[in-house]
Amino acid sequence: MTISPRTIPFAALGGLFEQDDVEAAMRVISAATAENGSFFPLPEEADFQKAFAAHEGSHGAVSINSCGTALDVCMMVLGIKPGDEVITTPLTFVCTATCAVAQGAKVVFADIDPKTLCLDPQAVRRKITKRTKAIIPVHFAGHPADIDAFDVITRESGIPIIYDAAHAVGTKYKSRGIGGAGKASCYSFQSNKNMTTLGEGGAITSDDQEFLERARQKKTFGYVYGKQLRVASIGFNYRMTKPQLAVGLTQLAKADRVNALKRQKSRVMSQLLEGVDELILPAGYDSEGHGAHLYVVRLNTDRTKLSRDAFRDHLKNRHGVATSLHYPAVWTWDAFSELDYDRADCPIAEQASEQVISLPIFPLTSDEDLQYIAWALKQSLLESK
Ligand SMILES: Cc1ncc(COP(=O)(O)O)c(C=O)c1O
Repeated sequence: MTISPRTIPFAALGGLFEQDDVEAAMRVISAATAENGSFFPLPEEADFQKAFAAHEGSHGAVSINSCGTALDVCMMVLGIKPGDEVITTPLTFVCTATCAVAQGAKVVFADIDPKTLCLDPQAVRRKITKRTKAIIPVHFAGHPADIDAFDVITRESGIPIIYDAAHAVGTKYKSRGIGGAGKASCYSFQSNKNMTTLGEGGAITSDDQEFLERARQKKTFGYVYGKQLRVASIGFNYRMTKPQLAVGLTQLAKADRVNALKRQKSRVMSQLLEGVDELILPAGYDSEGHGAHLYVVRLNTDRTKLSRDAFRDHLKNRHGVATSLHYPAVWTWDAFSELDYDRADCPIAEQASEQVISLPIFPLTSDEDLQYIAWALKQSLLESK
């Protein structure tokens, strides 16, 4: 195969943003700015929440301005407070952990499953104490967490599970949407996710209507509407805007198409990289339930002396292939380093966090680009020997 050099960026837009999305936003902006128009986000909010819950297989949904605030709200609704412990994975975005710290609780890290990179329920069991008040698994990269095993933990201990579903719009577990799992799930529609609501946005789904109502109050000043408006609890303003909600509907309508495209391209990448000893390939893309937000390959540092960072630099500088990092372990961030976590406690997550490389695979990545990326990975390994 003749290979000519290419430049492959790591796109900031994870899904597809098309003409219908632009028109949806423009329509509500035009209507709002017409005489007697308004930016008040109804009826779009109710329409989007209904459609999102139906898509994710939950009884209901609350739209919100980010997954970060969704996690914060869930901690508040559960009443997480100083002295409590919340168990999560170290291999995640920082806000999966900060949501608990923000309520004064202690984050306890448990190790991950080496195949799926999702939180390992058995490792979680070893970390449960009398003070454990919530567990937050992440559906990592779009791979579903082990929901059945977490259900058993809740049945035995009463500890609620809040899923971080930032990567998981359209993810399925045993052929069912994941939106009704545990106590609640928190989604992200930030720009690089498979669907986006103009750059920021999120949702909380749940089968528990009372939990959803309390979450709705938290994101809307504690308001309860009726003959007379009441402020029933302490709340905030975490609403999505009207244009975002309108775009949410058009983005949701194409979410399955986006996921299918990313899944198909991920499968091609796995075929192209099969048999490369120095790489550990991600699991689960053969299943239609994989949300395919990210394709995270690991540099097998037991098989090569090369460091992940040197390898990424080489890929970028020599072959023009940009990659991303999901994630440095949470405890490596300055804000957590003071808390003195014992890194040896989660050896699988610790090692994975130094091996992971997210490849630039997007809905419109061409076959030629996929082949080039795979070639560049193999070539970089040869050149670094
Ligand atoms: C695992 C995970 N959780 C939470 C978030 C936060 O999402 P948002 O940017 O919508 O607050 C992200 C964002 O990238 C994420 O990857």
